[in-house]
Amino acid sequence: MTTLPSVNWSYPTSVRFGVGRIKELPDAVKAAGMKKPLLVTDPGLASLPMVADAIASLKAAGLDAAVFSDVKPNPIDKNVEAGVAAYKAGGHDGVIAFGGGSGLDAGKLIAFMSGQSRPIWDFEDIGDWWTRADPAGIAPIVAVPTTAGTGSEVGRAGVVTNSATHTKKVIFHPKMLPAVVICDPELTSKMPRIITVGTGMDALAHCLEAYSSPFYHPMSEGIALEGMRLVFENLPKVVADGSDLEARGHLMSAAAMGAVAFQKGLGAIHSLSHPVGALYDTHHGMTNAVFMPYVLQFNKPAIEQKFERLAGFLGFKNGYQGVLEAVLKLREDLGVPHTLSGLNVDDAKRDLIAEMAIVDPTAGGNPVELTKDGALTIFDKAMSGEV
Ligand SMILES: [Fe+2]
Repeated sequence: MTTLPSVNWSYPTSVRFGVGRIKELPDAVKAAGMKKPLLVTDPGLASLPMVADAIASLKAAGLDAAVFSDVKPNPIDKNVEAGVAAYKAGGHDGVIAFGGGSGLDAGKLIAFMSGQSRPIWDFEDIGDWWTRADPAGIAPIVAVPTTAGTGSEVGRAGVVTNSATHTKKVIFHPKMLPAVVICDPELTSKMPRIITVGTGMDALAHCLEAYSSPFYHPMSEGIALEGMRLVFENLPKVVADGSDLEARGHLMSAAAMGAVAFQKGLGAIHSLSHPVGALYDTHHGMTNAVFMPYVLQFNKPAIEQKFERLAGFLGFKNGYQGVLEAVLKLREDLGVPHTLSGLNVDDAKRDLIAEMAIVDPTAGGNPVELTKDGALTIFDKAMSGEV
């Protein structure tokens, strides 16, 4: 048993947090107004008992549920199209988005696209494009995260790769926010070590970039601070002992907090990680973890002063330098590769990556303007290992 509390939150949506709360899935699905949910997940999870158990509990409660799992690790447009076809063919009335980033985002996007008549790219997160969507055509969503990183369970966007252009696009709509979230740390306890590390570092990247972004959003800034503390304190514990449910619970909180915080903006870690992920199919969080110290150094002139406060809160000596060293030590302790070659990324596409990075929607949140030269500098350092 843990001392982790079991609690309900209404921020930013209805969250049922605590060990064992997956048993409330049928109740959550009914609360969201569904009778015939489509559970969307990835093929790896679909073969695990947790999905079979979820389906069995739904059926026992009289809910006619089915599974759709044709989802790639970085979901592509065709996965969403196939999911929408399955949703319509099965006569479903809502989606259970179940999984890590891929299952959650694919599930949310399938729910969103289930009642739209325009192509998905018309709803990219640009200006007010989201107002083009028919809100009545968005199906209700219950989200069940099985990793602690993406925070997509409390987000209003989904990321999908355009399979024609190999670019990652963010699709946004306020109604893509799940109606009910079940955060059960037990579901994350079987995660392979490398996924625990990658997803945990993604949560840290969300908080770090939100905190660093220059926009005025004090609420997000406060959330980012506590999110970072939870990752620094709990990610090493979870990697040392995968069954530490208390630490896993704190990481689930940090993941949700990171996604809430990055309303304030993300930055160059994500701007570079997105093209690398799209071109090399690398793990998103692990790619962020590799880029993290190089981007911190690039941003140093703009964030140095602000990181004094961060270092004080986290209990690190030497301000900015102390945070940088803590990031480097955390990466090393967790076995994160120091350079991109550790992710099998070479420099053959460096120019294309830099061009894609500067037009990535996250680039505008970087505290130092991300120019093509700047993106090339960061990429080259992440190849050579020179911090
Ligand atoms: Fe991320």
